[in-house]
Amino acid sequence: MELVAAADSDERGLSLLKVVNVLQKVVVFVHTFTVDKLRSQLTRTASEEMPHMSEDIIEAKVREICQELVLSPEVLKEVCDCLQEEINKGLAKDSHPEATVKCFPTYVRELPNGKEEGRFLALDLGGTNFRVLLIEFSSKCRMDSKIYAVPQPIMVGPGDGLFDHIAECLASFIKERNLGNELLPLGFTFSFPCKQEGLTKARLAQWTKGFKCEGVEGRDVVELLKQAIARRGDVQIKICAVLNDTTGTLMSCAWKNRNCRIGLIVGTGTNACYMEKLEKVELWDEVIDDPPQDGDTHIEVSGVVINTEWGAFGDNGCLDFVRTEYDNNIDSESVNPGKQLYEKMISGMYMGEIARQVLVRLVSEGLLFGGFASDILLEKGSFFTKYISEIESDKSGDFNNCRAILEELGFNDATDADCANVRHVCECVSRRAANLTAAGVSVLLNRIGEESVTVAVDGSVYRFHPHFHNLMVEQISQLVKPGIKFDLMLSEDGSGRGAALVAAVASRCAAMR
Ligand code: BGC
Repeated sequence: MELVAAADSDERGLSLLKVVNVLQKVVVFVHTFTVDKLRSQLTRTASEEMPHMSEDIIEAKVREICQELVLSPEVLKEVCDCLQEEINKGLAKDSHPEATVKCFPTYVRELPNGKEEGRFLALDLGGTNFRVLLIEFSSKCRMDSKIYAVPQPIMVGPGDGLFDHIAECLASFIKERNLGNELLPLGFTFSFPCKQEGLTKARLAQWTKGFKCEGVEGRDVVELLKQAIARRGDVQIKICAVLNDTTGTLMSCAWKNRNCRIGLIVGTGTNACYMEKLEKVELWDEVIDDPPQDGDTHIEVSGVVINTEWGAFGDNGCLDFVRTEYDNNIDSESVNPGKQLYEKMISGMYMGEIARQVLVRLVSEGLLFGGFASDILLEKGSFFTKYISEIESDKSGDFNNCRAILEELGFNDATDADCANVRHVCECVSRRAANLTAAGVSVLLNRIGEESVTVAVDGSVYRFHPHFHNLMVEQISQLVKPGIKFDLMLSEDGSGRGAALVAAVASRCAAMR
């Protein structure tokens, strides 16, 4: 109300409101026009061009259109070779500034030994939710956590607003759990590309996954968090580590599994980290020495965890040979065009939209739903990535989930043939994502070169897609050097427990120095 009154009394405010009003109308008009145009095209196609196709012909045409999403072994091998090259560029001093796969050293050089003890706080920011956790290690790991939403306006608003929100959630958690009297060590999982300059210093390189808060890129996020906490003045914290979710995932799995060397996320975004030998990391600016040993550490070589930030693979055009018109559309409509191109082919934030675009194309060619699209299907973002997992969870030949989803999308009389074709689209999209991820993992396994390596994996796509794990295992087996054994292990709550473990290992190493 106050805003409106102020604008009313101010000529310039009034003109601004008018301009905004007109702009809003233009946006609505253009949107309606585009959707209407598409709708009328779809209707025309349906009535004029497609009534005579048999189900077999339709199926064959659907398969032909989806073929560009199917990656041959040769293409995947080429993807591996490109990624290998990009990782080398990221790690080398001269090429690092221009490299797209940044390969940031994380300053984590110690894996947990399973004997960590104590109470820790962890913060986890990386998607639409933010979590605060209290974690206690003894022989077991106990966790108490609370999830707070990050409202959309905060995701794209000023940076201070985001960090004030984080500080507010942390303060209310500390208050609710009565932790005000303890100065607990805290690990901060911040799952965006950061150039680390120490275990507690991480400059945001660029936002991803729909975040776009002004004034944060190029800044140290630990400092921004400390400032927000100081602005409140009602909580005391001791930040011991800042880390990426991939590092957390690796640590969380390594806590009990001695072979773990890779952390992988296939969720809203995608990324991987791995343990690299220090002599291969030209970027390493500290002494090359053995990490402090207490006789129980898992590391036999002098290494450091590298956060590859492979989501940006392809941003220099090297993946154009696999990208499709759907990938181009998704990219140009995103908040970060030209960025995170590998991620946009793989992760949960985009997979559903890729499938939707293919479905709309099939309708427009008269190959689905009799050539008629529903209004909902024509809306960007209406086909959620979870639909892909649900549709592929139907037993073969059974379309229960598929039908329920199609009804939600406004198709009440989809035929079995429609359902089978929708499922085929989902399979092509998820298979391509699994194969591309497998290519990435194979490159890391081949680099590490150890005989037996466990890959710690987390993220909603990996967790909930019924076949993602198997598809990946199958593909990695084709791409990995002979003699290398691997397994993919679901890592329980890497972003929370992993953050506490990095804080715990950091405290242990500090105590030994
Ligand atoms: C970010 C990574 C993160 C990944 C998974 C990507 O968008 O750049 O830092 O690890 O998402 O959450």
